[in-house]
Amino acid sequence: MNKGTIIALDFDSRDKTLEFLDKFDEQLFVKIGMELFYREGPEIIREIKSRKHKIFLDLKLHDIPNTVKKATLSLLNLDVDIINYHVAGGREMLSVAQSSASEKEGLLTLGVTMLTSTSEESMHEDILIDEDYSLKETVISYAKLAKECGLSGVVCSALEVPSIKKSVGEDFLCVTPGIRPLTYAKDDQKRVVTPEKARELGSDFIVVGRPITHSEDPLKAYNEINREFLGE
Ligand code: C5P
Repeated sequence: MNKGTIIALDFDSRDKTLEFLDKFDEQLFVKIGMELFYREGPEIIREIKSRKHKIFLDLKLHDIPNTVKKATLSLLNLDVDIINYHVAGGREMLSVAQSSASEKEGLLTLGVTMLTSTSEESMHEDILIDEDYSLKETVISYAKLAKECGLSGVVCSALEVPSIKKSVGEDFLCVTPGIRPLTYAKDDQKRVVTPEKARELGSDFIVVGRPITHSEDPLKAYNEINREFLGE
């Protein structure tokens, strides 16, 4: 799959989502998260698919293996392009998830390593990951587990891409949010990189929300960000 920009459609309704998509003629790659999916249900996926856009359905599944397997089989009917799982669900959960996801040719699976909202301190004190393992080592170890279970890649910070690719393999997909053009505020993101920097670090896909969705001219913002990422 080629490199590119995935637009995070973090809208709270179908109408706002479709109004935004109406501004584009070309085929996009979009990310639908829990907020919109839980509000609008599978119908919003079907509508966006009928407009020929590609979809990353960001539901971050995490449950006992049998439940995640059944949930994955249910999602196959939606014909999305990427689904994802919390790596913390463990080897058995990831393996059965992957074997169900493999029933649909071309479906990519991503692991969520450590959420970027989890601090190193909380990882040790609340999640009880041993002090011997840093956040970076934990992320790499989770990425290796995702690879061993057959997943296509991980969602991670662009800053983590070089060490993940080095440890896990160049062909392991790294999909990276936390992207901000130089001219745009950071919002609540902490460690941000520009689209150009994400390319240099080796990201396969960047995930960009507000710099495009909150722009006065979303089409222009998308084109500028995507060209910068692709180095055009
Ligand atoms: O608006 P913004 O560009 O910050 O949106 C980034 C998107 O990527 C949001 O949908 C956010 O939930 C998601 N995301 C993230 N950091 C992660 C995982 C997902 O920002 N570690």
